[in-house]
Amino acid sequence: MRKKIVAGNWKMNMDYTSGLTLFSEVLNMVNDEAKGDQQVVVCPPYLYIHSLVQLSKNNSRISVGAQNCHQADSGAFTGEIAANMLNSVGADYVILGHSERRQYFGETNQTLAPKVDAVLKAGLKPIFCIGETLEERNQNIHLGLIKDQLVEAVFHLTADEFAKIVIAYEPVWAIGTGVTATSEQAQEIHAFIRAEIAAKYDATVAENTTILYGGSCNPKNAAELFSQPDIDGGLIGGASLKSRDFTDIVKAFNS
Ligand code: PGA
Repeated sequence: MRKKIVAGNWKMNMDYTSGLTLFSEVLNMVNDEAKGDQQVVVCPPYLYIHSLVQLSKNNSRISVGAQNCHQADSGAFTGEIAANMLNSVGADYVILGHSERRQYFGETNQTLAPKVDAVLKAGLKPIFCIGETLEERNQNIHLGLIKDQLVEAVFHLTADEFAKIVIAYEPVWAIGTGVTATSEQAQEIHAFIRAEIAAKYDATVAENTTILYGGSCNPKNAAELFSQPDIDGGLIGGASLKSRDFTDIVKAFNS
């Protein structure tokens, strides 16, 4: 059975004090209100990971993740963070290939593949982001592009390795824009991704892969999105910065 996950991506938001407050609120609300077996992942800026791990130590529902990492184990890479460092402070997940990293920091499928390897080697789980721009969708080249993102960055993994990764489909045109993909649009792409995984590995691997939707997901549209057969949760940006909204999205699985 694949895991249901709601992951919050704080991006470069929140100072330390407000981040701790937000996380404490999320911990309490999720404890009191979330039902079922969904997992919650919170990905704050690197600096806060250790503190959030300490706060959530006795809570098996909530894990902490990073938003990026470097591909090397260690070395002269000023300003960078290695996957095994993230492991050593208790992180469980690492978001890789977010469209903002691709757009502003030049990340490509080719530079992401070794990061995926480094995260797995460090014993962490990648949340690997894929998705098309509006232009690419309008040109009707989006399916091929999404396939390339899988083939070039994650399909070199063995089936055992692939079983540890989470895929996040995030149409770039829906991120932070208030425009959400309709549940039919999202489901269509999620089903396509699952079919590609089945073709590369097998039906069991595909069935067991968690595929999240991301892009202007909010408490109003989450239940409808999550009710689709191939949507296993969400990667949440803006709405993860408000404890009430984020918790309501987590609860959307049960509505
Ligand atoms: P958004 O961001 O929810 O603010 O659209 C999603 C993401 O970037 O992961």
